[in-house]
Amino acid sequence: MLKVNNINVYYGPIHAIKDVSFEVHPGEIVALIGANGAGKSSTLQTVSGLLRPKTGSVVFDGKDITKTEPHKIVKMGLAQVPEGRRIFLRMTVMENLEMGAFTQKGVSSKGIEEIFNRFPRLKERQKQIAGTLSGGEQQMLAMGRALMSHPKLLMLDEPSMGLAPVLVEQIFEIIAELKKSGVTILLVEQNAGMALEVADRAYVLETGSIILSGTGKELAESDEIKKAYLGG
Ligand SMILES: Nc1ncnc2c1ncn2[C@@H]1O[C@H](COP(=O)(O)OP(=O)(O)OP(=O)(O)O)[C@@H](O)[C@H]1O
Ligand SMILES: [Mg+2]
Repeated sequence: MLKVNNINVYYGPIHAIKDVSFEVHPGEIVALIGANGAGKSSTLQTVSGLLRPKTGSVVFDGKDITKTEPHKIVKMGLAQVPEGRRIFLRMTVMENLEMGAFTQKGVSSKGIEEIFNRFPRLKERQKQIAGTLSGGEQQMLAMGRALMSHPKLLMLDEPSMGLAPVLVEQIFEIIAELKKSGVTILLVEQNAGMALEVADRAYVLETGSIILSGTGKELAESDEIKKAYLGG
């Protein structure tokens, strides 16, 4: 579904992503874990076309998208929920969802209904201004908005950030349900414990390089990971 081949990404003189390669197969949840500044968001932004690699390539669904424009990448079925959600705070819940369907010809009421079935909380609050939603509800809205484009691959950048433990649990339950319904997921998380639990496979990023990879289970049991990311 997604193949990232030896990408190198720079911010001016800063070499943020160094020879990173990884794959996501159809139906998988793949996690990218790593500390602050490791390069997780930069990696996702390179996949979604917002950043360009100096060298290397990104192949999605069999097509080279290394130089494809971001909106065309969304249209091809690759949606991203950015770090910090980035919903439209002054618009209502419903308006935010409608914006998520920008790649479609029109907003189908069936599409909205599907999202409301998955997130009943959003249905109750469809007329509420998004900026007044709780953090967990905003995350649900950001995910719902991304799902409006019917993505084949959904990329989530730290969906659990800033949420209370019970909401973190909820978000991870939703991620597991999405997988069951056939959505392939690339998940970026600092919450390595939860991410490794839900992930089929995972990669560990450290200062721009992938230093370890394996199944979620393998990594969760590795001493190195326990020490560095799971609190001993
Ligand atoms: N716009 C930018 N200009 C310059 N340097 C940047 C920019 N964005 C990111 N960087 C640098 O690139 C590196 C990787 O940043 P990135 O945001 O990808 O990390 P991250 O793993 O997502 O971190 P976090 O967990 O804090 O979100 C960091 O050293 C960061 O300072
Ligand atoms: Mg980040």
